[in-house]
Amino acid sequence: MPKPIIIDCDPGHDDAIALLLAFAKPELVKVLAVTVSAGNQTLEKTVLNALKVLSFAGIECEVAAGYDRPLMRELEIAPEVHGESGLDGPILPEPTFQASSKHGVQTIIDHVRASSEKVTLVPTGPLTNVAAALIGAPDIKENIDRIVLMGGAAREGNWTPAAEFNILVDPEAASVVFQSGVPITMVGLDVTHEAQVMASDVQLLLDSGKKVGVMVGELLEFFGEFHKTMGFAGMPLHDPLAMATVLDPTIVETKLLPVRIETQGQYTTGRTVVDFYGVTGEKPNVDVALRVDRERFVKMILEAMLSYE
Ligand code: BDR
Ligand code: CA
Repeated sequence: MPKPIIIDCDPGHDDAIALLLAFAKPELVKVLAVTVSAGNQTLEKTVLNALKVLSFAGIECEVAAGYDRPLMRELEIAPEVHGESGLDGPILPEPTFQASSKHGVQTIIDHVRASSEKVTLVPTGPLTNVAAALIGAPDIKENIDRIVLMGGAAREGNWTPAAEFNILVDPEAASVVFQSGVPITMVGLDVTHEAQVMASDVQLLLDSGKKVGVMVGELLEFFGEFHKTMGFAGMPLHDPLAMATVLDPTIVETKLLPVRIETQGQYTTGRTVVDFYGVTGEKPNVDVALRVDRERFVKMILEAMLSYE
C-alpha cells in the first residue's frame, strides 16, 4: 500500500526534483496534496513554479498556496541560488492547471483529518505552513505518522555559519514543529551536502533526449553555478534526499537525539541545536540523519527522472 504523503515545498530547483521523485513512485507514495510556502522565492513565484513543473511532467494534483511569510518575521528569499523566478534555467511553459482556492494550511489539516491511514508530511521549505497547521488543529498530530523534513544540520550551516536556510527563514515555525511531539526525521546538511550529483550525472540527463530528463539537467546546470561558488564539486540535492528517505528510509542512517531550535541567538538564530551527548537531559525528539548512501541515492534520482517521457 503506498504511504499517503503531503509535500510542503517552496520550489526551488531541488524542491522541483523532490516533487518529480515522489510522483515517479506511485507504488510507494500517494501524494494527497502539494502545499506551497514562501521561501526560495515569494509565494506567488513558488506556487507558479510548482504548477509549472508538475504540468510539464504531465502531473495534475491538488496544489495549494500557504502563507506568504514566516510566522513572526520578514521573508528572506534565495535568488542567489534559485534565480529571479525561483526556478531559473529551463524555459517552462505556463501551467495547464491552477492552484486550489483553499489555503495550504487548511489543505494540510483537511487531508490529515480525512485520511484513513496516518499521513507522512514532507516539508522541503520553511516550516510556516506545517507549524500553522499544528497550532490551528492540534488534533491532526494523532493522524500524522511522521514529519520527514529537509532542514537544519548538526554541523555546518549554509545561510549563516550556524543555520540552514529553511530553518533560518522561519525559526519560530521550526520550533513549533520540533516541539510538537510528532515523530520527526531531520534530513539536514550533514547528509544533503554529501548527496551530490556530479556533472557526469547531469550530462546523462541532458543527453537522454527525454523531455523531463533534459529539463532536470537544465535545472541542475543552473543550481550547480551557485554551488561552484561555494566550493562544491557537484550539486547537493537537499530536498530530493528528504523525499528519498520517505521512499526508502534505509538510504540514510539516523540517530534519535534531542534537538531544539535557536530563535534568539546573536549569531546562531535558526540553528538546530543537536544534543549528541545527552547533556541537556531533554527527551530525544528527532531522528537526525547523519550518513547517506550517496550512490544508491543518485541511482534512485536518475532512474526516477528518466522514468518520465
Ligand atoms: C534548502 O534551502 C533551499 O534553498 C533548498 O530548496 C533547500 O530546501 C537547503 O538549505
Ligand atoms: Ca526547498
